[in-house]
Amino acid sequence: MAYRNLEISNRGAVRTITVNRPDKLNALNRDTLNELSIAFTQAAQDDAVRTVVLTGAGEKAFVAGADIAEMNGYTPVQAQSFSRIGQQLMSAIERLGKPVIARIQGFALGGGMELAMACHLRVASEKAKFGQPEINLGLIPGFGGTQRLLRLAGRGAALELCLSGTPIGAQRAYELGIVTRVVAPEALDEAVNALADQLAAAAPLAAAGILDAVLLGGETSIDQGLEFETQAFALAFATQDMREGTTAFLEKRKAQFKGR
Ligand code: COA
Repeated sequence: MAYRNLEISNRGAVRTITVNRPDKLNALNRDTLNELSIAFTQAAQDDAVRTVVLTGAGEKAFVAGADIAEMNGYTPVQAQSFSRIGQQLMSAIERLGKPVIARIQGFALGGGMELAMACHLRVASEKAKFGQPEINLGLIPGFGGTQRLLRLAGRGAALELCLSGTPIGAQRAYELGIVTRVVAPEALDEAVNALADQLAAAAPLAAAGILDAVLLGGETSIDQGLEFETQAFALAFATQDMREGTTAFLEKRKAQFKGR
């Protein structure tokens, strides 16, 4: 499919989805949200894709937010559907069943920070900036930011970022647990590629089990979370990959996982 606002590329089992509106700092308008939704559905359904990297075009921005020009004319009803479309996309990314890495080279503001937080891992350049500046527009985050930031970094950080609207640097985002790695700008691609390759070579069904247990377990009691873990653990024993992984260990060779 031809996209107007995205670029898609493949490197082995790693699919890179790039938001491609650099003249608008990759701001998320409705079309871009719809295209992202299609691109992630395709990535989920394609067995050849084992890991997804999500990034923005250009050096300046990952994504500088929801499209303010488009939102400026919205009625409350249009805003409600815009928020729901955005939230559904973020949830679809989070529940993709395959690891998704956000590659963040510059601004990740508003909807851009929300998009990054929906990914499973966030690798940032030292130059990246994170923030929920919606309050400066008389708005609040609408694509899950209040909820995912709360869960990632706790109530204090969520309230500080959302109420102040002031962006923070990558190092502070790392200290708050918002990003998982910070690297020099020139080392960003190498770091993202190495991580993506590592995840793409891992057992896909085990990765899906880990994602389920962590994501679902984090939303429930520890007893229910432990039950999710037991069920996912037991299911792994039904896979060829589990036999291959344990046998390869015993035979002192590298395992070849097939996602079966
Ligand atoms: N929505 C729509 N357009 C946006 C945008 C957004 N969220 N963020 C940037 N743009 C556009 C600008 O309007 C400008 O377009 P133009 O050249 O047609 O005027 C272009 O992208 C470049 O942005 P500009 O503001 O000129 O770059 P800058 O380097 O001076 O500032 C930012 C960079 C990120 C600080 C600034 O663009 C900004 O504050 N963006 C909005 C961030 C925000 O509030 N996000 C949350 C939205 S809910």
